[in-house]
Amino acid sequence: KEMFRQELVDVHGVPLFWTIAEAWSQVEGFEARPDDLLITTYPKSGTTWMSEIMDLIKNDGFAEKQKNIPITERIPMLESAAPGILPTSTDVLEKLPSPRFVKSHLPIPLLPKNFWESNCKVIYVARNAKDVAVSYYHFDRMNKFHPDPGTFAEYLEKFMSGNVSYGHWHEHVISWWEKKKDHPILYLFYEDIKEDPKREIKKVMQFLGKKFDEETLDRIVQHTSFESMKDNLMVNYKSLPTSLMDHNISPFMRKGIAGDWKNYFTVAQNEKFDADYEKKMSGTTLKFRTEI
Ligand code: PPS
Repeated sequence: KEMFRQELVDVHGVPLFWTIAEAWSQVEGFEARPDDLLITTYPKSGTTWMSEIMDLIKNDGFAEKQKNIPITERIPMLESAAPGILPTSTDVLEKLPSPRFVKSHLPIPLLPKNFWESNCKVIYVARNAKDVAVSYYHFDRMNKFHPDPGTFAEYLEKFMSGNVSYGHWHEHVISWWEKKKDHPILYLFYEDIKEDPKREIKKVMQFLGKKFDEETLDRIVQHTSFESMKDNLMVNYKSLPTSLMDHNISPFMRKGIAGDWKNYFTVAQNEKFDADYEKKMSGTTLKFRTEI
């Protein structure tokens, strides 16, 4: 049952799970096209949510294609590989017609250089660190390629030391924030989309150069609500084999809320996390909501 779980592998200084390390030469050599649009996030920050929003906007709010093709095929993850189970994403991406949407969790130094050279547009979604840690913990329990997370207390220590797949959360969110200065990046927050999906979807529409009537906008909001997405086989990852993800352990579409960390962090864990957080986030203008 646990045959796929292995320790993380160091790829140019970033811990990644082994299937990505094995596919690395393909990722590195990936050829971006100038009209590619990249959706990047630290894991568990609302990637699937934003991907579905972007894909509906691209298709003028028309949900027919979205009803029949899994999100993993419409917006493949650049560095995704599941040997013997699914085709490698770089192969899938090469066959996709332009304009492509590409998903990635890679930190800036690891992103194939030609994404920058081609000046590809990027949408980045950030989510508060504590909810990411909780969501990631549950994901590592159900995702069979990730190392066993252990107890939540053990996992939180690993998260704080950056010993999780894709490394340190704060380095990721800060470096993409700084990159906004010299690259076309729309930087959004999970909590903002949760608070007012219409307002945030309008920002994405503007970034993609699209305009819709209220009715279409309402349809996009409805189709991408947590309740709809939870039951939608094309986005809830239940179409993947259970040897890869076991939703009986924890569903991919788990809770979809802001502030769930309060149900997990003890007072002592919270104090330790806050002290560490303050140190690591001290030099940046990037601010997260504190009232969560
Ligand atoms: S991944 O594996 O990194 O691509 O995961 P990602 O999609 O980034 O994040 C998964 C979390 O996002 C929640 N989610 C949503 N929240 C609100 N509304 C919608 N529509 C939505 N879709 C996905 C999902 O439930 C995971 O968060 P948690 O806190 O675990 O529920």
